[in-house]
Amino acid sequence: AVTRTFSIIKPDATKRNLTGKINAKLEDAGLRIVAQKRIHMTKAQAEKFYEVHAARPFYGELTDFMSSAPVVVQVLEGEDAVAKNREVMGATNPAEAAEGTIRKEFALSIGENSVHGSDSEENAAIEIAYFFSGTEIVG
Ligand code: CMP
Repeated sequence: AVTRTFSIIKPDATKRNLTGKINAKLEDAGLRIVAQKRIHMTKAQAEKFYEVHAARPFYGELTDFMSSAPVVVQVLEGEDAVAKNREVMGATNPAEAAEGTIRKEFALSIGENSVHGSDSEENAAIEIAYFFSGTEIVG
């Protein structure tokens, strides 16, 4: 089924001017960018967005990083969008990411790993609603 997922192009990637190259990978994989904006998250916004990871040892580092420079938040649409996006992103740790994936090609480390993608349709809906209103999504 055609579904939607939520994606972030992270600070390490926007700083290296990789937005277009990452978008090309998403589009080549059959995902359609139906909403997109460049924002600079506050620390508080990053903390709320990553609330599920609050107990993890890397929470402080993660939320500092995500609020350190602009990001591009996106809604992607396509056949099985959550799974398709996770496939094109590659493993969280770039050292484990498959050839041809975004993280294999661009990520610097497990933290500075260039992109975020929702891990389930349920979380996708929550994450999309956190950054976009219905009228900003044009399918
Ligand atoms: P993301 O998909 O954005 O969701 C949680 C993020 O935590 C994950 O990508 C990683 O970038 C980050 N992360 C996971 N493990 C570590 C770690 N050991 N150190 C720093 N960041 C991490």
